[in-house]
Amino acid sequence: VPARMPFIEPVSDADLERLALDRVVPALLSRGFCYVDGLLGQPAGDAVLEQVKEMHRAGALQDGRLAGSVPGIHRSRIRGDKITWAGGSERGAEAISVLLGLIDRIVSVCARRLGNKTIRERSKAMVACYPGNGAGYVKHVDNPNRDGRLITCIYYLNKNWNAKEHGGILRIFPEGKSCVADIKPLFDRLLFFWSDRRNPHEVQPSYATRYAITVWYFDCEERAEAKRRFRDLTASGSQQSTSLG
Ligand code: OGA
Ligand code: OGA
Ligand code: MN
Repeated sequence: VPARMPFIEPVSDADLERLALDRVVPALLSRGFCYVDGLLGQPAGDAVLEQVKEMHRAGALQDGRLAGSVPGIHRSRIRGDKITWAGGSERGAEAISVLLGLIDRIVSVCARRLGNKTIRERSKAMVACYPGNGAGYVKHVDNPNRDGRLITCIYYLNKNWNAKEHGGILRIFPEGKSCVADIKPLFDRLLFFWSDRRNPHEVQPSYATRYAITVWYFDCEERAEAKRRFRDLTASGSQQSTSLG
C-alpha cells in the first residue's frame, strides 16, 4: 500500500538558501541557536506527526539511553523519554524521510559558512516521546566530550501546546551568559543549536504527550578523531551515521 502523502510542496533551493543564509547561519554564529517555525506547513507536518504517533502506537518507542548510571536514582528521573532510531527508509517513515531530506539541504547550505568545519554526515533520526507523566530530561550537554556531534536539530510536533499547563519547555543555558532561552516544542518548529558545551539544556517536566525528532550533524574531523578514540561506542544510535545526499 503506498503511503498516503498529501504532500510536500517542493521547497525551492532559493527559499532554502535564504532561510539558511539569512537566518540560521547568523543566529548560530551569534547566539548559538536558532529556530524556524512553519517549516513544512500543516499537511506535511501532519503526515510526519501521524507517522510518529503510529510508531508510538505500535510500541516502537523504548526508554532513552543514559551515558552512565547514578546508583539509587531511577533513569526516568534523569531522562524520561521513549525513543527509537529511524533511518528514514523504513516503511511508514516516508514523511520523516522527506523532513530529513529538507533538514539535510538546509544544513548543507549552512555548512560551508560555519567556520572551518566540514559537515558530511549526520546521525539517524531519534524519534522521541515524553509521555506526559511529568518526565523531562535534566540539564545536560549533548556532546560534552568531542564525540563528533556539531549541530543538534530538533523538529517539534506538538499542536495546541500550552507551556503553562503542559510544561515541556526546552531551556537552553548558553555558556557564559546569565540569561536562558526557553523554547516551546511547537508543531512544525525546527530548532538548531551547537551540540557542545556552549549549550547546556534541559527538557522541563512534560504533562502532555510531547513528540520530537532529533538529528545530530557531525563535524568530520572531530568525528574521525572520536571514532579512533572509541570504536566500541559505534553501536549507539546517535553514533551511526548517514551521508548527506
Ligand atoms: C545515544 C543517545 C541522546 C543524547 O547516544 O544513544 O541517546 O542525549 N543520545 O545525546
Ligand atoms: C535530547 C534533548 C530536547 C528536546 O534528547 O538530548 O535534549 O527538546 N531533547 O526534546
Ligand atoms: Mn539534549
